[in-house]
Amino acid sequence: MGKALVIGAGGVANVVVHKCCQVPEVFEEICLASRTIKKCQDIKDKLTGSRTKIRVAQLDADNTDEVITLIKDFKPDIVINVALPYQDLTIMDACLATGVDYLDTANYEPPDIPKFEYKWQWAYREKFAAAGITALLGSGFDPGVTGIFCAYAQKHYFDEIHTIDIVDANGGDHGYPFATNFNPEINIREITAKGRYFKNGEWIETDPLSVKKVYDLDEIGPKNIYLLYHEELESLALNIKGVKQIRFWMTFSDNYINHLKVLQNVGMTSIEPIEYEGRQIIPLQFLKAVLPDPASLGPRTKGKTNIGCIIQGIKDGKPKTYYVYNVCDHQECFAEVGSQAISYTTGVPAMIGAMLMMQGVWKKPGVFNVEEFDPDPFMEALNKYGLPWKEDFAPTLLDEE
Ligand SMILES: NC(=O)c1ccc[n+]([C@@H]2O[C@H](COP(=O)([O-])OP(=O)(O)OC[C@H]3O[C@@H](n4cnc5c(N)ncnc54)[C@H](OP(=O)(O)O)[C@@H]3O)[C@@H](O)[C@H]2O)c1
Repeated sequence: MGKALVIGAGGVANVVVHKCCQVPEVFEEICLASRTIKKCQDIKDKLTGSRTKIRVAQLDADNTDEVITLIKDFKPDIVINVALPYQDLTIMDACLATGVDYLDTANYEPPDIPKFEYKWQWAYREKFAAAGITALLGSGFDPGVTGIFCAYAQKHYFDEIHTIDIVDANGGDHGYPFATNFNPEINIREITAKGRYFKNGEWIETDPLSVKKVYDLDEIGPKNIYLLYHEELESLALNIKGVKQIRFWMTFSDNYINHLKVLQNVGMTSIEPIEYEGRQIIPLQFLKAVLPDPASLGPRTKGKTNIGCIIQGIKDGKPKTYYVYNVCDHQECFAEVGSQAISYTTGVPAMIGAMLMMQGVWKKPGVFNVEEFDPDPFMEALNKYGLPWKEDFAPTLLDEE
């Protein structure tokens, strides 16, 4: 059917390319391009014999002209951006210049401000609409599947949605004293930022990791969950009409929190440059260099993830509750594609979003978040491509725990 340009060659890109190769009738050819071409080649080598043709390219995606040149040469139908959030705007500019559809899994962040907001990418709405091309933002798991779960609940089960609690639990153990499951710089910026949630039309801010509950998760058991700000809250507060409260929760072990506190206390998580032996370094980037590479966690990680949405609202005049979630096993993911479940749960939805766009199922000119499309074909594809979901119509509510 067509060609996809995949940018980035980390844990998520590895999954995207493996999953695209499972659908060769849609992804006939892939160009995998990233800063370090060896990483692209390593992924390609794992897929020898695939019906999808794969080529690799060296690319600095911070440079729009380089991206434009590669797009003009390869002529993809879509660009799948699984590099870092810092590259979102340069890649969107290149898509606009060449008239090619765009997809990513994380919203733009300026490197020097640890803050995520959709405003920079939503500012492209009119330009994408005028160019007749689609940008699909946040087609990973969270953001991504969590938004699709909410859209599905709204379409099939509720007349009004009042509250949403997104719970992201990782019950996996990699055996290291401290490591992050995806890019450490992006991950630590997210966790050390202030918490924020939406209530009655307002955003309420909380100190980092200051709100904690215990929740008992299917196939994982009871875990400490902490309130964080997460980017899908911003789009869901707009797109789920009438919603009164949305919160996001993530699990961290006591061990993880203790390590993080020490690193914060000694200044290692700072993004302010410091002088070291005559040159400027950013402590968080140095920390990234000494922590285990998330891609190396795959073979060591045992256990499961459980990510889903607990929703309350009204149907036919009566109160209703609904919990929809996916459980994913780290070792099964590794056996299938050579990555752990965090990369897997992000890469599969990126492939599905790209597939639906290439098939013309999810296609309209402009810039959209996932919940703005019909959730049904995506939900069906999740079951088919490795992320089956479960439903519970009488879940324990977080405020009852
Ligand atoms: N929505 C979700 O559920 C979710 C969950 C997890 C992650 N994510 C997002 O997924 C993305 C990828 O995560 P990951 O864990 O795969 O990260 P990763 O392992 O750090 O990989 C990032 C890749 O991007 C490449 N890259 C960085 N800067 C580049 C540039 N200027 N030009 C070209 N390539 C560049 C890196 O190149 P090098 O190899 O040279 O460093 C690396 O190959 C991130 O944006 C992350 O925020 C989303």
